[in-house]
Amino acid sequence: MPKLRPLPKITRRRSRLHGFGVFAAEPITKNRRIIDYAGELIRNSDSEAREERYNADGAIWVFRLNRVWSRDGYVNGNVARFINHACTSNCWFEIVDKTIWIRASRNIRAGEELTFDYMTVGKRTIPCRCRPGCPNFI
Ligand SMILES: C[S@@+](CC[C@H](N)C(=O)[O-])C[C@H]1O[C@@H](n2cnc3c(N)ncnc32)[C@H](O)[C@@H]1O
Ligand SMILES: [Zn+2]
Repeated sequence: MPKLRPLPKITRRRSRLHGFGVFAAEPITKNRRIIDYAGELIRNSDSEAREERYNADGAIWVFRLNRVWSRDGYVNGNVARFINHACTSNCWFEIVDKTIWIRASRNIRAGEELTFDYMTVGKRTIPCRCRPGCPNFI
């Protein structure tokens, strides 16, 4: 059996983008798997009410997997739920069956904040603070 490479070390701390963010604690090479976005698996038809509730608090926790399924990072989630959005991000996500892998989209230095593009579906009400003057909403 080939040895599975351990996932890179990451850490949660305060972010300049918003609240808490997740940061690389070691250099991460392009395309490396970093963490899976954990959370309760729910049907999209059941997620809308939750999303509206979270949205009312200005929060996005539900990750749309496909046309049927979502993961709610607020319920049984892991540290991945604190990864902030950026329009030009250093991570991407890969959906393998019902697992959401967060992967590096370029080489990432130790200490850099991890971000991915939320690709929010539906109402985008939160002004994006990924960079000064970003005109987008997430
Ligand atoms: C999945 S949480 C990320 C963790 C969040 N920073 C926290 O401490 O709870 C998503 C929320 O973070 C905030 N957020 C993430 N990226 C942002 C960005 N680029 N600009 C503004 N707010 C952002 C929004 O409030 C969003 O609803
Ligand atoms: Zn932005």
